[in-house]
Amino acid sequence: MLDPAIWWYVTRASAIIAWALMVISVTWGILLSTRVIKPKDNPSWLLDLHRWLSGMTVVFVGIHMASLFIDEYAAFTFQDLFVPFHSQYQKIAWLGGWPIALGVICTYILIAVQATSLMMKKLPRKYWKAIHYSSYALVLLVSFHAGWSGTDVRAWAYRITALTLITLTTVALIVRILFPKSAKTLSATVEGRRPNQKTENLHKVVVDRVTPLADGILGFDFVLPDRSNLDPWVPGAHVTLHLPGDMKRQYSLCGDPADRSQYSIAVLESPQSRGGSRYVHESLKAGMALEVSGPHNHFELEASNEYLFIAGGIGITPIKAMIESLPSRRQWRLLYAGRSRNSMAYANELVEMFGDRVIVHADDEQGGRPDLDALLEGFNGHVYVCGPEPLLDALISKVPVDRLHYERFSAVDRSDDAVIEAFEVTLSRSNLTIAVGKDESLLDALNENGGALISSCGEGVCGTCEVRVLKGQPVHLDSVMSDEDKDAIGVMYPCVSRGTGSTLVLDI
Ligand code: FES
Repeated sequence: MLDPAIWWYVTRASAIIAWALMVISVTWGILLSTRVIKPKDNPSWLLDLHRWLSGMTVVFVGIHMASLFIDEYAAFTFQDLFVPFHSQYQKIAWLGGWPIALGVICTYILIAVQATSLMMKKLPRKYWKAIHYSSYALVLLVSFHAGWSGTDVRAWAYRITALTLITLTTVALIVRILFPKSAKTLSATVEGRRPNQKTENLHKVVVDRVTPLADGILGFDFVLPDRSNLDPWVPGAHVTLHLPGDMKRQYSLCGDPADRSQYSIAVLESPQSRGGSRYVHESLKAGMALEVSGPHNHFELEASNEYLFIAGGIGITPIKAMIESLPSRRQWRLLYAGRSRNSMAYANELVEMFGDRVIVHADDEQGGRPDLDALLEGFNGHVYVCGPEPLLDALISKVPVDRLHYERFSAVDRSDDAVIEAFEVTLSRSNLTIAVGKDESLLDALNENGGALISSCGEGVCGTCEVRVLKGQPVHLDSVMSDEDKDAIGVMYPCVSRGTGSTLVLDI
C-alpha cells in the first residue's frame, strides 16, 4: 500500500533537487562564460554538462508540479500551477499569493530559457542572449519562492542546503559582474593574444627539414638550435618569418601543437609573390638559420559540438591543425577544395586518416566548384574557412556571422566601407589624447606619440598591430576577422582601421 504522503515527499524532494540543479547549472554557465574557466582543449563537454544540468532542472520542476497536482493534500489544480495568483495556498499571510505566483513565473522563465536554448542555432544570438540572461533573475526568484512557500524551512538540513545554494548563487552573480567577458572574448584577448605588445617575440630557429608536399608547396620544420621547446600554440595560430630585405611573412602552423620541439608550416609559391614565398621556396634550405616571431592566433577554435571546415588550396594549413586536435568523437566534416589533387597538400593523408569525413573536391576531377549550398543544408554548427576570396565571399553570404570564422590570405580593399576623416584617440596609459589626420594612419600617429607598437603587413591582414579598445567604436577597415568578432573581443588593427568623430580610447 502506497503511503498517501508519498506525493508530498516527492513534491518537497523534487523542489530541492530542481533548485540545486538550477543553481549549479547557472553557476556552471557563468564559470563557462567568464574568464574563471579558460577552455583548454575545446571543451565541448563543459557546455554539454551545462545543458544536461538545465535539462535535468526542467525534469525535476516537472516532477515537482506533477506531484503537487497528484497529491490530494496539496490539491493543486491545473490553473493553480500555471496561472499566477490563482492558488489559494498561503504560508505567510502578509505575502498573500506571491510565493506561489513566483513559482509559476519561474516556471515560465525556465521554459523560455530552455526553449530558446534548444532553438539557439536558429535564433539571432542577441535574442537568445537576452532571454538566457533572465536565468540570473530566475535563480533569485526561485530562492524567494522556496523560502516563502517551502514547508521544510525550519529543518536544519533544509536551512543548510538553502544557505549553500543562496551563497553559490550570490558568488556566481558577483563573478559574472566582475568578469563580464565571454569565454570567446577571453580566449581571444587575454590568454592567447598579446595586444599592445611593444617587442616582437623573436626566436632564432633553424630549418630542420624541407619536404615537398604538393605541386608548388613545400613543408618546412623549424627547431631551436638546441632543440629545446618552442612557445606553445593552439590550432589556428601562425608565425611570422623574418626574411632578408625586411620582409615579414605570416604562415599558419600545421603540425601537432603537442609537439613543442618544432614549428611546421607549408608554403605555396605564389605566382603573385612579392618576394616572400619565392625566397622561401628558392633560398630557404635545411640547416639555415632565420628568425620567427609569434605564434599569434586570430583564428581560434570555439567550443562546439559540430564543425564544418572548408579549406581552399593552401588554406588547409590551419584547418589541418584544427581537425587533428579534435577528440575523435567530435562531429566534423571537411571540404577541401583545390584545382587538382596534385596541388593539394595533405589531401591523401587526411583522407587516409579521417575517411569520409574528408571531402576532397578537385576542380579538374569534379569539373567545377563545390556545391556549398548542399554542404550547408541543415548544418547549424560552426563553420571555419580558410581559402581564396571568392570562397570566403560565398560563405559570408550564406552563413550567419556568429557561426562563421575565417582567415584570409590577403587584405581586402575596404576603403569604400567608410568616409575617411580626422579623429581623436586617447592613449589610456599615458592619458594622452592625440589628433589623427585624415591622411594619416592611426598606427603612425600612435607610434609618433610613444605607442611603439609592432606591426608587420601594414595592410590589415596579419593581425600583428592589434590594440585593445577600451571605449568608442572603431571603423574597422582591416581583413583580420569579422568586424563582429573584433567588437566582441574589443580589439582593432590600427595599421588600416581608424576612429570616428567621437574619441576612441585605446589600452596603450
Ligand atoms: S600590421 Fe598587419 S594587421 Fe596591422
